[in-house]
Amino acid sequence: MDQPASDPYELASSAASELARRSGLDRHDAVVVLGSGWAAAADELGELVADTPLGDLPGFPTPTVAGHLNLARSVTIGAVRVLVLGGRSHLYEGHPASTVVHGVRTAIAAGCRTVVLTNAAGGFNPQWTVGQPVLIGDQLNLTGTSPMLGPPPPPHKPPRFVDLTEVYSRRLRDLARAVDPGLPEGVYAGLVGGAYETPAEIRMLRAMGADMVGMSTVLEAIAARHLGADVLGIALVTNPAAGLTDEPLDHTDVLNAAREATPRMVALLRGVLEKL
Ligand code: HPA
Repeated sequence: MDQPASDPYELASSAASELARRSGLDRHDAVVVLGSGWAAAADELGELVADTPLGDLPGFPTPTVAGHLNLARSVTIGAVRVLVLGGRSHLYEGHPASTVVHGVRTAIAAGCRTVVLTNAAGGFNPQWTVGQPVLIGDQLNLTGTSPMLGPPPPPHKPPRFVDLTEVYSRRLRDLARAVDPGLPEGVYAGLVGGAYETPAEIRMLRAMGADMVGMSTVLEAIAARHLGADVLGIALVTNPAAGLTDEPLDHTDVLNAAREATPRMVALLRGVLEKL
């Protein structure tokens, strides 16, 4: 149901009510947004409670990108009620920022205080190889937009001008390293995407202090921080960024690399979620 709303927070709250009705869970504790190629992880994350097609929830467009799953899946991991969002909306699909962050806002309206954002990324830190999961330590929002654009948030929501000093929770990064010691950390550059980068753009991003690049995550992280949730970001390096090898960049390779890393990702996500 892709419907415009004058108040995106109201739309998120109606999606959360419908999710509660459909799943039978009056609230969820944490949300995991699965990035490209992470869909296989959805089957192993916890005990299934309910599956709700994303298109049945107000404000969610049907995902159009291969490697995504059209489901809001409610699972339990021990006592923790986890919402797994198998689909994600991207700017490059033509969606506005408010649609891109609608899943995160809905999850927070449904009670989630922890937001786990996963993605596939091109890496340009020479120490990392394909299949390496990386904790996002900080981000560059280079999309040219923000979920904080538009009319001011309604009075019952925090004001804009969100403090982004610690977008990605240090506590959650420490927890992730306790589960999977040796996980490296890096800066994720989020671009509008739609095409991969040029080698010159990768050199620019490197000079700007980024370690990896992708087409998602940064807006969702800002929206989650605005609403006070703690964010954990995990990027999976699925390919060397443009210009670093002679191989052409291909979405199928990205999906394959992600699939091979699924067991490690599942162990990491479960390990973090059950300790929340
Ligand atoms: N660039 C941008 N997004 C990506 C990449 C990349 O190299 N790999 C996976 N997502």
